[in-house]
Amino acid sequence: MTTDQFESDERQRLLRQYAEIATLAGGLAHEIKNPLSTMSMLLELLEEDLDQAESQRERRMLTKVQTIQKECRHLEDILNAFLKFARVGKLSLIPTDLNEVVSEFIDFFQPEAREHGIEISPHLSGDLPFVALDTSLMRQVLLNLALNAQQAMPSGGLLELQTFARDDRVFLAVIDNGQGMDENTRSRLFEVFFSTKPNGNGLGLPTVRKIVDSHRGTITCESAVGRGTRFTISLPPAS
Ligand SMILES: Nc1ncnc2c1ncn2[C@@H]1O[C@H](COP(=O)(O)OP(=O)(O)OP(=O)(O)O)[C@@H](O)[C@H]1O
Ligand SMILES: [Mg+2]
Repeated sequence: MTTDQFESDERQRLLRQYAEIATLAGGLAHEIKNPLSTMSMLLELLEEDLDQAESQRERRMLTKVQTIQKECRHLEDILNAFLKFARVGKLSLIPTDLNEVVSEFIDFFQPEAREHGIEISPHLSGDLPFVALDTSLMRQVLLNLALNAQQAMPSGGLLELQTFARDDRVFLAVIDNGQGMDENTRSRLFEVFFSTKPNGNGLGLPTVRKIVDSHRGTITCESAVGRGTRFTISLPPAS
């Protein structure tokens, strides 16, 4: 067997494995969704009960219930995004202001970032053409890239989110000043199951790439060990 053939067989095997896991994960996502919506419903009832709270203790409970509700909504969003992703090809592309998606993501990710000593610095271009986006999938892209950035800055750092238009394309850059990566890691980033983390699945970036591909976009990465990493996504403007 030639090396090429071996690599192609290996690739086919990984792709089959990926498809199998995607199916399993899709099933799992469905399984999680039902109890989650029961929890959301009960939380809503609890919120109603506590709405007229007079004692301080009850008011504190109300705040906590509202936080859990927000987290539940976020989990539901992720599950929906994932289930959508499992059916990529049927995305709902709507001409969207990418800056709005990025700003909303920053609002959502800010508390998590703060907790990890990460400062988020947005540089959003004022005159950005609309892009045909599936916003929940694009949020997933931002989340996967931001989590990687966060994990690359264990003692905190700077996470820059840029948008700009150039040469009839719309760009989104996610930049961190974390530990960076060597050339071997950089060349394998988008391989399914490739991870250098003890608990990493190696699915974050393949998922990102698949979503970007499905938007007719491209993604590139530049990185320097000890300096940081920049992911740049290029998207076609909505026609
Ligand atoms: N911003 C970054 N800085 C440094 N290394 C990175 C960065 N983003 C990705 N990497 C490297 O690329 C690898 C693959 O990333 P990917 O997101 O696909 O998987 P993961 O983060 O290891 O696991 P998960 O499936 O939980 O996302 C990481 O293990 C890490 O080595
Ligand atoms: Mg990751």
